[in-house]
Amino acid sequence: MSSPRSTLLWGVLVPPLVALYFVYTLQLHVIVPELTDIKEYPGLFLKVFFYVFKPPLGSAGYEDLFQKIRSGDTREPFVRHVVAVGDLHGDLPNARKVLQFSGVTDDFGNWTGHADFFVQTGDIIDRGDDTIALFDWMDALRGQAAATGGSVLTHLGNHEWMNVIGVSELKAFSTVIIFTTFATGDWRYVYPTEIKTFGTSAARQKMLSTGRIGRSWAMNYTTTSRLPLHPSLGPPNTPFPPESKELHYQKEDSELDISYYYSTNEPLSHSAISFVHGGLSPTYGGLTPFPSRINELSDSLLRKLQHRVQPPPHPPNRYPGLPLSATQAEIELYQANGPLWYRGWATDPEEKVCVDVEKVLAKTGTRRMVMGHTPDFEGIVARCSGKIIIIDTGISHAYGGVLSALSIHYTLTPVGNHEEQRWVEKEVVSALYPDRQEVLVVDEREVVGDFRAS
Ligand SMILES: *[C@@H]1O[C@H](CO)[C@@H](O)[C@H](O)[C@H]1NC(C)=O
Ligand SMILES: *[C@@H]1O[C@H](CO)[C@@H](O)[C@H](O)[C@H]1NC(C)=O
Repeated sequence: MSSPRSTLLWGVLVPPLVALYFVYTLQLHVIVPELTDIKEYPGLFLKVFFYVFKPPLGSAGYEDLFQKIRSGDTREPFVRHVVAVGDLHGDLPNARKVLQFSGVTDDFGNWTGHADFFVQTGDIIDRGDDTIALFDWMDALRGQAAATGGSVLTHLGNHEWMNVIGVSELKAFSTVIIFTTFATGDWRYVYPTEIKTFGTSAARQKMLSTGRIGRSWAMNYTTTSRLPLHPSLGPPNTPFPPESKELHYQKEDSELDISYYYSTNEPLSHSAISFVHGGLSPTYGGLTPFPSRINELSDSLLRKLQHRVQPPPHPPNRYPGLPLSATQAEIELYQANGPLWYRGWATDPEEKVCVDVEKVLAKTGTRRMVMGHTPDFEGIVARCSGKIIIIDTGISHAYGGVLSALSIHYTLTPVGNHEEQRWVEKEVVSALYPDRQEVLVVDEREVVGDFRAS
């Protein structure tokens, strides 16, 4: 190891560079004025240093770095990665595959830390036997994620609600029922073999109401969520609009001024995504403040259902329905136009959804909305330039669709000199499949402001 190059390195170059390192990090030139001159030539020394060590950045990367050091720019690029998965329907092995190929978990089903957020949009239960294992796994991941600074956002789908409303054993299972049944709420989709995993029907009912799974639903699950892509917007589910803002659109929906919330002072105000099981209908009355209004109704309705005397099984008994104490708003939450059952974003024609979506995005303070519930067995569906994304691809073997996950890479990168406060905000939205990856949308815009992550 005594080539001329390493002699040069260790004997001649390293000592002054180490000295320089201390001058900078300890700000020694402040106390020792003679060092000020050295401070004037950081670029030269750094160039020599990087030439010798050839670290893994392209030369353009170093030019940027020198530029930043010279200008005193301390802005850091910000990166966030979100992975979302749709309906899992009782199939743990397929769910494990999806989280693994999307990088959320490793071979053992443990959190890897590669995603900052993992989102599941509901319908974990029914049509398969792995109900208990799936809900336990979600809670295990939630704990592992929290330990590494990540988060798991889980949602209640119409099937979780059906189970907590009604009770029965499966009498018939037909695809006709799956696709045509309107929201009545019951246990028609529960497999007898799945009930055995709980022991008895009564044990199952208990576990989903006041037992382990029911308590986790009440505490760790919401009906919808708003996930800000940049931390300057607050943690997930910070209500939008902020309380200080006037809700003028509530008076007359047609007067909605979409530009209203895109204030030039807050260019990131809508840098967020909504998640829900069914869909946020444009005519649903409880959209704002988002997501708190929906989630408060969801919490109160769930509490009423879980703590009532559990009704006898349906079928054969009559459909128990919502409790008499349910309010009108809680009833609407569970109706066809509510967030658990709405299918308009999947079924309505392009001209209609691409107009309607703007209103909902403006109201909910988001750039795109992601939902499950309406399956497409070929793959993830993106409509209106990715403002509507439907991620139910029939992952469970009960459907035999494709395994899929949605991936969103968000970056906010400083550009120009720091006085200009210019940043490039970018979202790359992709559909991930076991054997391929498909970029659905790349959105890029320049924003101006002071956006520090902390
Ligand atoms: C990983 O998963 C296994 C099996 O689920 C579990 O026993 C183990 O504790 C997990 N490891 C960590 C680091 O959480
Ligand atoms: C919610 O999730 C956490 C983290 O996994 C878990 O420890 C806790 O038991 C869950 N809450 C309930 C009520 O189950």
